Amino acid sequence: MKKAIVSGVTGQDGSYLVENLLNKGYEVCGIVRRVSTPNVTNISHLLNEKHLKLVDGDITDLSSLVRIFADEEPDEIYNLAAQSFVAASWNQPILTCNTTGMGALNVFEAARQVCPSAKIYQASSSEMFNGIEYPQTESTKFRPRSPYGVAKLFAHEMARIYRESFDMFIACGILFNHESPRRGIEFVTQKVVDSVVRQMCGEDFILELGNLEAKRDWSHAADMVEGMWLMLQQDEPDDYILSSGETHSIFEFINKIYRYFEIDLVWMTRTSGLPYGYDLEGKVLVQSVDKYYRPNEVSTLLGDSSRAREELHWSPKYTFDALVIDMIENKLSKYKEE
Ligand code: NAP
Ligand code: GDD
Repeated sequence: MKKAIVSGVTGQDGSYLVENLLNKGYEVCGIVRRVSTPNVTNISHLLNEKHLKLVDGDITDLSSLVRIFADEEPDEIYNLAAQSFVAASWNQPILTCNTTGMGALNVFEAARQVCPSAKIYQASSSEMFNGIEYPQTESTKFRPRSPYGVAKLFAHEMARIYRESFDMFIACGILFNHESPRRGIEFVTQKVVDSVVRQMCGEDFILELGNLEAKRDWSHAADMVEGMWLMLQQDEPDDYILSSGETHSIFEFINKIYRYFEIDLVWMTRTSGLPYGYDLEGKVLVQSVDKYYRPNEVSTLLGDSSRAREELHWSPKYTFDALVIDMIENKLSKYKEE
């Protein structure tokens, strides 16, 4: 039985990855950071699994990683833990760099000291690109636009340094945006789905968002975790883009969610230049406000995942439409339960 350690196990990707690995017959050890009120919602359905064990640890604390890696002797380590919300990285740049950048280095260093032959997956990001040149490939130049992007690029380059210097197996997945019903509420897809469902259930408020012109390449998280696993099944470590190969603006995403409820939004622009959308009865449902604009922005993400498709034989199962339906239907059933 192979053993995998997963950091970030309570997050969106961690929860799908644990399911995926347990289904493949792995023994999984999930690293959970200690908090006063534990948040294990995403993995609550897995807590009684015989082959899943949760241990306390923090990727900013090298000693905790050394202890866990020495105790567990993993075959594979998936480093998914991060401060992953780009917008927050301008308000908390040091925490973001300590967690998302230095935290990854702690993982590599702990593995070098204790289990250098374990295969490591590092969660790199399309936020390392500048968003001007696209489609992005593995050889597109990196030029991050956020503290988060810089922290991810630090980790990405450190992965290469450890790979080349110490002959360690560290594969980086340059993943484009991926979503699911387990996506955190602050990310744009979940925020829009949650708000529109609440409006449709009778709550009276205007959905406020930031830049609606940015374009993102969205996939389903369940497809992405299979790609992470495939990267660690190769003989040699490498970097791979995982993406859908389609890009959609935030406008398009919003329109799609309202259209599910048979509402065709009409868009207008205020004198301030900020857009708003209303229904056919003239009721404003959504508007763009200054407070959700970021100091800088990756404008267009469109990933070319040909290498992963050819070399890993990876291909996503969810279309964009299927992702949207999964998110809406899950949200609707949660509101009905409540
Ligand atoms: P997520 O839902 O925000 O999950 C992040 C996880 O990291 C949570 O389990 C969180 O624990 C944990 N964590 C944060 N700080 C930690 C620390 N100091 N020590 C240990 N654990 C810590 O993120 P995700 O969407 O699953 O993404 C997984 C990874 O892929 C992240 O590294 C993210 O940056 C990267 N990525 C994501 C996307 C995407 O579109 N989703 C795309 C590219 C790359 P708590 O539950 O305690 O907060
Ligand atoms: N979150 C949020 N909230 N985003 C908004 C809003 C809003 O109210 N209004 C507009 N947006 C725009 C953002 O400016 C951005 O262009 C886009 O919606 C997507 O924002 P997020 O869903 O927060 O994701 P992200 O693209 O910044 O980052 C995600 O993808 C990266 C990979 O490219 C995160 O998952 C990162 O961790 C990941 O690395």
